[in-house]
Amino acid sequence: MTERLEWWRNAVVYQVYPKSFADGNGDGVGDLPGAISRLDYLQALGVDAVWFSPIFPSPQCDGGYDVSDYRNVDPLFGSIADAERFIREAHARDIRVILDVVPNHSSIEHPFFVEAIGTPPGSAAWQRFHCVQGKGEHGELPPNNWQSIFGGVAWTQIRDASGALTGWWYLHLFDSGQPDLNWNHPDVVKEFDDTLRFWFDRGVDGIRIDVAQGMVKEAGYPDVKDANDATLLDPHARPYFDQPEVHDIYRRWRRIADSYDPPRVFVAEAWLDTPEKRARYLRADELHTGFNFDLLTAEWNGEAWKRIITDSMAADALVGAPTTWVTENHDVRRSPTRYGGRVVLRQVATTEHLALGRRRARAAMYTILALPGTTYLFNGQELGLEEVIDLDDSQRQDPHFRRTNGEHLGRDGCRVPMPWTRGGVSLGFGPSTGSPAWLTQPTTWGELSVEVQESDPSSSLARVRKAIAVRRAHHALLSGVLEWDDVRCRDGVVVFKRVLANHPTVVCVANMGDGPTPTVRGTLLCASSELVDGMVPPDTTAWFAQDG
Ligand code: GLC
Repeated sequence: MTERLEWWRNAVVYQVYPKSFADGNGDGVGDLPGAISRLDYLQALGVDAVWFSPIFPSPQCDGGYDVSDYRNVDPLFGSIADAERFIREAHARDIRVILDVVPNHSSIEHPFFVEAIGTPPGSAAWQRFHCVQGKGEHGELPPNNWQSIFGGVAWTQIRDASGALTGWWYLHLFDSGQPDLNWNHPDVVKEFDDTLRFWFDRGVDGIRIDVAQGMVKEAGYPDVKDANDATLLDPHARPYFDQPEVHDIYRRWRRIADSYDPPRVFVAEAWLDTPEKRARYLRADELHTGFNFDLLTAEWNGEAWKRIITDSMAADALVGAPTTWVTENHDVRRSPTRYGGRVVLRQVATTEHLALGRRRARAAMYTILALPGTTYLFNGQELGLEEVIDLDDSQRQDPHFRRTNGEHLGRDGCRVPMPWTRGGVSLGFGPSTGSPAWLTQPTTWGELSVEVQESDPSSSLARVRKAIAVRRAHHALLSGVLEWDDVRCRDGVVVFKRVLANHPTVVCVANMGDGPTPTVRGTLLCASSELVDGMVPPDTTAWFAQDG
């Protein structure tokens, strides 16, 4: 296959969290018209594709990851016509579009659930969900010990038409507003076949699969052995994750994607505890790519990064899949906050802490942009936005915060809307006459805005743009093999080459150590921070070109 068809093997993909990217109508919440108005920005940034977190109709109990109609657009974000216009205008700029499908669970407002709730538990309509008799004399106890990933019991007791509790429960691995679908039911299978075709027919290039290790539950719903361990970051082997039959679903989906010209592609969101387990989802007749979250949870540590890069690539190579690199998304703390030092629950980072964190976050982006495979950037990552720790609790919307009574601050702090201008009611997120952003932006973000950073060649935005442009211009960075420079890889310094016959080699020097490290032979292409006295200073990544 030509490189053109396999764009997903070395793309830069920009994640848009629709509520937080750009607000076109001034209601304080991002939307599709807003995103369309920022396509020129994305083109200038140089990204190959945009992945939208869910835009479908939803009661928004989990930021749209609770879908009530998979084949429509939430009025909050616009209309199908707006989605089609986004796709058209993105394609006109050679930017591909990836949507986010949520097949593990629906919303309680999905017609399947609305139908079920009006019928007695155990009825045909309930078969589309996991509706199970409870334990105890009258079924008053949950069917097993499964815990919701957002905290609390993973089952909710069903009420009858008069409002009285029955002895039956429905499963929700996430919020009670997100009932798990029963993938043994043909209606569920068809619902997603139809959904894939609906969006592929409209020109969508790819689909991100939410909780891709979910969907199939072990028969009989056996207890998990350690019920206190069911956290989002540590799923391990569970009777509800990574079951062998889930691969059959992906083989089916692959055939649908391959029936299109050009073939459509998938990226799996599957939190698994080893790269080998992830690679099993990427076999030739299954999914094309899967998120590699190992760097997302890694410390700022050269040895750890080298090990993760080596292990991830080795596992993916077994199945011929490209590796993906992610250091931020809408589920984890922003990287400047993570890299700046340890963050205690509600403690806001100091200025020094954030300056260090931002410098490292830039170096991290330069490092992942130099690696073979697909690199993901989360909206605002290019600006170096930090986690907003001190949001008012009344603004927090993440069910993880609510379901743990505030023990977990939740993920709202990485979802605070983008600052586009230095001033204005929402820092240019929406029109100047519009409402403030749905989550309050720190006033300091005016100085991090696109407007400010665009005019400063040493800003994070300018440096990331430069790196993406250099990556596009250097074929070795797109398809060259990776070779470690083992001699230089020590004391926290990570050095590798990208080598491609008949093209200049590119060397990436990522200094995660404490002292300056010498540069390498060749021409400096770009760097995440200024070099000092001809050395790559700590917390800096630099790229060099070598001719033969
Ligand atoms: C995925 C999403 C996350 C969501 C969860 C439940 O992990 O990334 O945001 O809360 O699935 O759908």
